[in-house]
Amino acid sequence: MSSAAAEMVYIQAGHLLDVDSGERRPAQAILIEDGRIVQVGPATELPPPEDARIVNLAGLTVLPGLSDAHVHLTSNHDQHGFRRLAASIPRQALTGAHNARITLEAGFTTVRNVGAPGFTDVALRDAIADGELPGPRLIVSGPPVGITGGHCSDNNLLPPQFNAVGEGVADGPWAVRQAVRRNVKYDVDMIKTCSTGGVLSRGTQVGAPQYTLEELEALVDEAHMHGRTVASHAHGTLGINNAIRAGVDSVEHASFIDAEGIRLAREKGTILVMDIYVTEFILGVGEEAGILPESLDKERQTGTRQRESFTRALEAGVALGFGTDAGVFPHGTNARQLSRMVEFGMTPLQAIQSATLVNARLFGLEDEIGRIAPGFRADLIAVADNPLEDIETLERVVFVMKAGTVYVQP
Ligand code: ARG
Repeated sequence: MSSAAAEMVYIQAGHLLDVDSGERRPAQAILIEDGRIVQVGPATELPPPEDARIVNLAGLTVLPGLSDAHVHLTSNHDQHGFRRLAASIPRQALTGAHNARITLEAGFTTVRNVGAPGFTDVALRDAIADGELPGPRLIVSGPPVGITGGHCSDNNLLPPQFNAVGEGVADGPWAVRQAVRRNVKYDVDMIKTCSTGGVLSRGTQVGAPQYTLEELEALVDEAHMHGRTVASHAHGTLGINNAIRAGVDSVEHASFIDAEGIRLAREKGTILVMDIYVTEFILGVGEEAGILPESLDKERQTGTRQRESFTRALEAGVALGFGTDAGVFPHGTNARQLSRMVEFGMTPLQAIQSATLVNARLFGLEDEIGRIAPGFRADLIAVADNPLEDIETLERVVFVMKAGTVYVQP
């Protein structure tokens, strides 16, 4: 990687994709100083300053760096079920360092890590921000806050004599508030919770709510009081609606959302983060990866329904963020979900907007990332083909810059 800390960088873009309008303008130039974009325009009107370093991306299409609102950097796709018990927390931190680089090199310049034990994600975020490790800009949750025996945080793999209690387990409104306060104390950016069971946890049901409305309201109130957003994992209808009613900022998965949930999400501006690619991995090679038979069964009941829900939510005009659950499947292949979003109803531009503009809004970074415009971070990627015609070109990113530093060169 070559640093652009205090220098000026001048990018010659074959084409520049404006993700707001969908215009793909030829022969554009971008001027970058101290990691931020200072000027953008036709190359003829914006010649390179004398002392600028020139990056030639002629023949490529440049667009803003992508983001993923739902990743698990500290987990690997080949360690599911009981295998997961073998990874110590320090080992998970190192796994996270490895996956952060892979994710950045795939064109994801900002990602939200939703759930990590031992605050490994906070350490990872800070090591990346301090320049010790290459990786995306991270938004992190620390340990998820969840019920006893729930999908979030607790671990139902060990029999009772181990007395295993997950780090973020909290029952009752005041315990929930305390768990949020503890996470805030250790410097998380947002709170992850679970308002239903899940596919990959043992002994939970995707349709069954977790937490009462009262507990969720306490959690959201406490988190918002500290300026933290809330993401709630929810597959089942009731748990989705409870989460939206309680005021969460995003619902993750949203598999069995009904008309009422869609109406509520629109009314309250709740963003849905629907991971519609991961089902292919789970049902394809999940068994070899250690996923339990009960989880494979749950996935068979969930994946198709989630894709149908995605189309309905899209048609109803609900805001859809881009989040994949990478870590369940291999890191660095996050962009595969873009073509599935197109398959299930989005235009290629809408899919790109979800991974740029919508996520930026969800992260509270709408003035920092997701656009190529003066004042924004110089987070840029480039691809060989026109992504509006061939969305899969985004699976083969050939140039990556984050905050003015180049990590992948054509
Ligand atoms: N982490 C999620 C869970 O265990 C994965 C769900 C994957 N399936 C899906 N169709 N999105 O519930």
